Amino acid sequence: MKNIIIYATKYGSTEKAAKMLKSKLTGDVLLVNVLKEKVPSLEEYDQIILGGSIYMGRVQKELTEFIEKNLSLLLKKKVGLFICAGSPDPAARQKELETVFPAELYNHASTKELFGYELTFEKMGFLDKTITRAMKGDKNSVSELNEAAMERFAKVMLDT
Ligand SMILES: Cc1cc2nc3c(=O)[nH]c(=O)nc-3n(C[C@H](O)[C@H](O)[C@H](O)COP(=O)(O)O)c2cc1C
Repeated sequence: MKNIIIYATKYGSTEKAAKMLKSKLTGDVLLVNVLKEKVPSLEEYDQIILGGSIYMGRVQKELTEFIEKNLSLLLKKKVGLFICAGSPDPAARQKELETVFPAELYNHASTKELFGYELTFEKMGFLDKTITRAMKGDKNSVSELNEAAMERFAKVMLDT
């Protein structure tokens, strides 16, 4: 079984989540950062996993554009979708998961999960720090990646 995980990340938490997910899958699993690497032809992959992180309610535009460009092929494959999202409101995070991907793809996907989030103030520039402090109410870094959600996700992808 050939799997590809195509992800976008700003401060590395989505990359960390993608690597954790990879460790829970079997067979070939290629990790590709869509912001930095060329994505190989998707034809040869049996399962395609797409993940990004949320900034001001949106996932990275490079990921969105990649999905739009490859939508018809994605709709023919087994797909899993995830996001890292740190909004303090769980309903808002769920809504983000449901709306940042095209509805057709969201409905087609075998699994979709929130993989948690990290907020690492030491890595942020001034603007992101200011926005995050306003969103969170303090300036404490947190790591809240959700391993249980990754396990659930992997279980579906492993179930052929
Ligand atoms: C400037 C800024 C804006 C953010 N906006 C949102 C948002 O609108 N909704 C949300 O759920 N999370 C938001 N987050 C939280 C990120 O999605 C979270 O930190 C995520 O883990 C980042 O992943 P990355 O390091 O892979 O980019 C924001 C974080 C920052 C720093």
